[in-house]
Amino acid sequence: MTQKALRQVSYILPTVLQRSSLSESHQFLSFDRIITGDARRVLRSLPVASVDLSFWSPPYYVGKSYESGLSFDDWQDLLRDVIACHAHFLKPGGFLAVNIGDIICFRDSKIPRFQANNVRGKKHPVTKEQVLETQRRHPGANRHQLATILGCSEQTVQRRLQHNNVRGGKNHVSTKVLLTGCMVAEWAEEAGLYLYDQRVWHKDPCWANSRWHSNSYRAVDEFEHVYIFWQPGIVDYDRLRLTDAEWSAWGSRGVWTIKSVRRNTRHEAEFPEELAERVIRLFSPSGGVVIDPFVGTGTTTAIAKRLGRRWLGIDLDSKYTTMARKRTNES
Ligand SMILES: C[S@@+](CC[C@H](N)C(=O)[O-])C[C@H]1O[C@@H](n2cnc3c(N)ncnc32)[C@H](O)[C@@H]1O
Repeated sequence: MTQKALRQVSYILPTVLQRSSLSESHQFLSFDRIITGDARRVLRSLPVASVDLSFWSPPYYVGKSYESGLSFDDWQDLLRDVIACHAHFLKPGGFLAVNIGDIICFRDSKIPRFQANNVRGKKHPVTKEQVLETQRRHPGANRHQLATILGCSEQTVQRRLQHNNVRGGKNHVSTKVLLTGCMVAEWAEEAGLYLYDQRVWHKDPCWANSRWHSNSYRAVDEFEHVYIFWQPGIVDYDRLRLTDAEWSAWGSRGVWTIKSVRRNTRHEAEFPEELAERVIRLFSPSGGVVIDPFVGTGTTTAIAKRLGRRWLGIDLDSKYTTMARKRTNES
């Protein structure tokens, strides 16, 4: 048996066993709740074939505080396990939509280190102490605001506070860059879900205004992907889910331009309500069940509720589940 086939068996088998044990025990979770816990554990208690759409944005492995304990292998295991769980609870014809950054970077001493000379030798005079002092004087100011006050780029603020970004630099070993979508699609197929579509979320062009430039010819980070996977089964296609104007404006369009959430005081990586609304309206029926196992501040569940769907949110951090519960209940 090949390595890949072995991996498929090891992911599909537990799902099949789980299906039978779950249907015997009937100890299922009910919907319209926000649950604190590890998605891998909670998802296993969902009823078989009960969910129309699972829409989420996982930790991206880019150094956010909520993923600081994860190694690259842990991160891969987390996503692979969560995706594997979907086989049992997605309805036939249901969808998994994963919003994720297009590339992943991690330190890898085995590959050659990218080398570049900064031939102009330009360095902004703002110091780390000045950034820290400005932060003290303007508590709660985000990176964009700090950069405006200091008259420098957001990149300078980031560099002074955290040294070089996650893509490495002269103080780090080499950085390997991989396409995230390939990895996610492989894990989905192992679980028996098939890539159906993708949308590119073009974030607001704030990067252009922030004067965030790369010294090494790399593109600034201005888009993310939504990868959509299909659980084999019949999809009810309803032309009236969107108006004609909505079909033309975004329903049939591959690139969605939606402003990102610039405020990062309540969460470091909130996605915009408009993104959740589009995905939910396109990929779930009215009255259907929408879940988010990495619910954060509750964007998916609040919008799902507002759009007349049933909902379920999970997050490891009780600070976020408290927030998500309040936001969703008030929505
Ligand atoms: C990218 S954020 C999601 C933000 C969310 N979409 C929003 O709009 O607020 C990822 C979330 O996953 C949570 N998380 C990380 N590991 C988890 C796990 N094993 N199980 C459940 N949640 C987890 C983090 O606490 C974080 O809130």
